[in-house]
Amino acid sequence: MAKVIATINLKGGVGKSTMTAALAEFMAGMFGKSVLLIDLDPQTNLTTMMIGTEHWHELNNSGRTLKALFEQALDSQAPKFDIDDAIQRNVSPLAKLAGIDLLASSLDMIEISEEVAAWQYDEPDSLQPLLVLKEAVDTVRDHYDYILIDCPPNMGIITRNGLMLADAYVIPTIPDVLSTYGIPQIQKRVRMFSEKTGHHVQALGLIITKYRANTNLHRNTIQRLQNAVLDYDALPAAERKLIERPPNVIPYWIPEATDIAAAAEFFDFGTLKNRYGGGKKVDDLRDLTSHVMTNVEIYT
Ligand SMILES: Nc1ncnc2c1ncn2[C@@H]1O[C@H](COP(=O)(O)OP(=O)(O)OP(=O)(O)O)[C@@H](O)[C@H]1O
Ligand SMILES: [Mg+2]
Repeated sequence: MAKVIATINLKGGVGKSTMTAALAEFMAGMFGKSVLLIDLDPQTNLTTMMIGTEHWHELNNSGRTLKALFEQALDSQAPKFDIDDAIQRNVSPLAKLAGIDLLASSLDMIEISEEVAAWQYDEPDSLQPLLVLKEAVDTVRDHYDYILIDCPPNMGIITRNGLMLADAYVIPTIPDVLSTYGIPQIQKRVRMFSEKTGHHVQALGLIITKYRANTNLHRNTIQRLQNAVLDYDALPAAERKLIERPPNVIPYWIPEATDIAAAAEFFDFGTLKNRYGGGKKVDDLRDLTSHVMTNVEIYT
């Protein structure tokens, strides 16, 4: 059964969607895994990276995005959502890369998420508004090795639907002050979610994105994040119980690179090496992917 990993950060523009796409393409292209991508963000960035805008319009017009799933949950009169029909197969624009499927998002998810939030407000003790995505995706979970969920930059009801399905989460972050400021908030929100629902979601760590090797700020920030974990582990057990362990820094840092930014284009670059700029970038992305796959197996 698929292991499910969510990509979360409350901060926008830190590389969540880019990393989700890269993890899927490296899982499939380098390790032969089958992957379902779930785009929960109304910005539809991951969706358009994978299938382009034209194909997205077709899906949106024919009720084959996640908007239709939530709509059906809210209104029994709404057209039936058929997950097998909604899932788009072999979506990577790299023609030779098979094994990545997609559940697309929709710009209309903004409106729908407000309605799902209102549903939860009306029934505060019910878990049902949080279970819409999980109940649908559980029916196809056996078909994949991994399911990767790209979340919007908030912890709203749609992101929490993703958490309900997830075994684990990663936090992509740029190693600077503003981007790392909210990390304890994310951990706290996930902990509160787990306390409310009884569903544990394992932290797999921080993915360092847009790293600039020649910037002191970036090096110092990574050191600070690493030291926070070491300092925590050195505390006596009684003190460790009182505070949350800061997330590990996953030890492969993704550089800021125009190739990686361009990888978001809906274009057949031919190979993963061409798409991600070759050399050390490809090695680091492969090692990062392997690390995430190993850790999700060990810890969940
Ligand atoms: N390693 C990188 N090097 C250079 N540019 C990058 C890198 N990773 C992402 N980008 C670029 O940074 C911008 C933001 O990336 P992305 O959309 O992945 O972030 P996000 O966290 O998903 O944003 P949002 O919160 O809006 O969903 C995009 O233009 C993307 O192409
Ligand atoms: Mg995004």
